[in-house]
This record gives sequence, structure tokens and C-alpha cells, in this order.
Amino acid sequence: MIELPRVMGHRGAAASAPENTLISLRTAAEQGARWVEFDVMLSGDGVPMLIHDENLRRTTGRDALVAKMPAADLRQLDAGAWFGAAFAGARIPTLEEALALLVELGVSPNLEIKPSAGADEATAIASMRVLVKHWPLDRMPVLTSSFSRKSLRAAQREAPQIPRGLLVTRPPRDWVEVAAELACSTIHIDGRRVTPQHAERIKGAGYRLAVYTVNDPVDARHLLAAGVDCIITDAPGAMIASLS
Ligand code: G3P
Ligand code: MG
Repeated sequence: MIELPRVMGHRGAAASAPENTLISLRTAAEQGARWVEFDVMLSGDGVPMLIHDENLRRTTGRDALVAKMPAADLRQLDAGAWFGAAFAGARIPTLEEALALLVELGVSPNLEIKPSAGADEATAIASMRVLVKHWPLDRMPVLTSSFSRKSLRAAQREAPQIPRGLLVTRPPRDWVEVAAELACSTIHIDGRRVTPQHAERIKGAGYRLAVYTVNDPVDARHLLAAGVDCIITDAPGAMIASLS
């Protein structure tokens, strides 16, 4: 069974640096995170890249779809300036670049498969291929997760050896069947929706439980006391400090 950390950085360290950029991953590591979550979507030419929204507007100022732009063009965009002048020039990283940095930092990835509309399988397959090729699976743990059942199923077929996490806002009626069928190791729930009953059932069934995105240490303490294993947070440094 996978061992999740108590604290995991969200989109790197999204409160301190522009989300899903290399500087955000590095900042999470500097803040003491040993794991980071990030979102992976395919460029127009099928390259897995770190970005959350289907439209580039919020993080690059460009009103266009990620799925319509080739990787080379996505690489030209500034994904840092929106967050702060000090981050101007930060790029949208490829998954391959992000993994190379994480190996160097000794930080494990929670690769969230975040498909554009209709690209559930393709995003999972391409991401798993890059992960299997570029991640030292024999010596560093890794986890993939998704809200998309289709993506998780495709990931399971493509790389059954990569542990999977079922992402939900709150556990749906059929979560027991779905998690078993997809052979998930972890369940990830919105921290505002999770109840002690959820935690008890999920932990009782042998899964590890993660919650997102929890930035208040008081909330985190309650969640950990209820049986949650992992707090996914935008501010890993502050969270680690206040939980220690
Ligand atoms: O993986 C946890 C969390 O990142 C899921 O929501 O929208 O922030 O990707 P979102
Ligand atoms: Mg995410």
C-alpha cells in the first residue's frame, strides 16, 4: 500500500508561486514538501504539459484552448507574470521537464490527469508513457489521480504498476465498486465535503485518504484527527510548520 505524506503541495506551492510551473515545484520542495500534486493536460500535438484550465486565459492572459495549441507555441507563453512580476517568464512545463526536476529535488509526484474535453484516454496514456519512461519507479514513489474514470481506466491498462487515486468532490454512491474496479490505492476528497463517516468507511476499506485543497491548519488538524492521511495544500511550508 502506498504511503502518502501528511502534507502534499498543491500545483506545487500555489500560494507562493505560479501554479503548475517549475518554480512552483521547486518552491514546494524548498518549503519541505516531499510530494507535490500537479495537473497534466495534452497540448494540441499530444505533449503532456502542466496546466489546470482548458483555457489559457487565467494563467497566461491568452484566450485560447490548450488543446488547440502545439507544445512549441504553449512554451512561448508567460505563465508566471499573472501571479507576480517576480515570476515573469515562467513557462508551462512539459511533464518530462517536471519529472526531471522532481527527481533532482527528491520529491514525488501526484500526477493528476486533467483531460481536455474528450481527451480522457489520450491524456492518461500519454502521461503514463512519459511517467514510466522518466520516473525511477524502483526507488521513488509516485501516484496518479483523476476525476475522470475514463482516464483512470486508461491509466490502469497502460501502466497498471502506477498506483491510482480516485478524485471526487464527495464519495459518490458507487465509490466502493469504482475504486475496486480501478484498483485504486487512494481516495481524494474535497476537504470541505469530507465527513468523519467517509473517513471511517474509506480507511476501513483499506484505502489511503487525501483531502484537497486545505490551507487552514485548524481544519487540517480536524481532518487528520478524523483519519485523513494527507493534506493537499497550496501552502505546504506553513502547513508543515503548524502541524509539527
Ligand atoms: O488533486 C487534487 C486537486 O488538485 C483537485 O482539484 O481542480 O485543484 O485540480 P483541482
Ligand atoms: Mg489538481
